[in-house]
Amino acid sequence: MSEDKPTALAARQMIQKAMTVTREKIVPMEFDESVYDIVEVNVEIKDLDPMFHNYKIVNLSDLHLGQWLTAEYLEGVIEIVNKQNADMIALTGDYVSYILDDVADDLERCLSMLKAKDVSLAVLGNHDHWTDPDRIREILKNAGIIDISNDVYTIERRRNNRTAKLNVAGVDSTMLNKEDLDKVMEELPEEGPAIMLAHEPDFADITSLTGRFALQISGHSHGGQFIIPGLNTTILRGEGSQKYPVGEYKVGDMIQYTSKGLGTNVFWLRINCAPEITIFKLKSPEVEDKENKNHKKPIYIRHSNQKKIFPTREDVDRFLNPDDIADFIEGKISQIANNLNPFEDNDKSKDERKDK
Ligand SMILES: [Fe+2]
Repeated sequence: MSEDKPTALAARQMIQKAMTVTREKIVPMEFDESVYDIVEVNVEIKDLDPMFHNYKIVNLSDLHLGQWLTAEYLEGVIEIVNKQNADMIALTGDYVSYILDDVADDLERCLSMLKAKDVSLAVLGNHDHWTDPDRIREILKNAGIIDISNDVYTIERRRNNRTAKLNVAGVDSTMLNKEDLDKVMEELPEEGPAIMLAHEPDFADITSLTGRFALQISGHSHGGQFIIPGLNTTILRGEGSQKYPVGEYKVGDMIQYTSKGLGTNVFWLRINCAPEITIFKLKSPEVEDKENKNHKKPIYIRHSNQKKIFPTREDVDRFLNPDDIADFIEGKISQIANNLNPFEDNDKSKDERKDK
């Protein structure tokens, strides 16, 4: 889909409402911290001044508020974020799905609660354009968050009469051709390393070609919502996240990190793919730090306790081809229709699936 609005927005809004009703029947509505993955990613940046060593950026992506993620859950997520004592908070788009009116007040109220030592920065995603991008930008502004879509924000540190810079740039939704990388490059100061926020991860191919960015942070894919066990990859890959759908990649000299995000779009299911809060710790090679050497890969600070709200491991093992996924979804819907608990893998539902 590359036009500004989905062809049948009203239909999609209806589907969203129907899915919300379904969610409320099967998902516990009280916030449960244990369902979230908290992932720490250490990124060594070659020209990072020691003044920025261990600079902490907490990333939230793909809230899709009003679907899987409720205001109550978002408040809980923000509480987790605020405990991290972040230097910066980076928001990478898709704050809502297809309906903004119902959640606009909650979105502004919750985002206003975010606390970062330096600044909170944001870019927009495709869904923000499909609803009301001007209003989303207004909400971000009212919440004290700076929209850096096609813009640059520079953080400075001073010590002993010396100033060091860290640049954070952003592009607007690339899936909808809203990005303006030329403008970003013009505005980017020559001094100091640069980080890119881009909702769609596959833009990494373009970002890395500039040779100017050490790290790009993205979302958009929701990790595919279904991750194949053992392979740590996904079969469902949407436009803009086909090449870099989940986790950490090396693209040229740049690190691309794609978060699994917080929400879901349309289907509330996440299989083997917990919602994620990502914590980036920037490392200066000039500082001797054991963490630099020992933890090159992302560290899961805490894995979600998926069984509480996600399907069981046995369910996951059935996800080896798209037909199985379709059967699974059909099975769960049938369980809900028959007032059965979809998280109990009872014999009746198994038999129903076998009959199909
Ligand atoms: Fe998206």
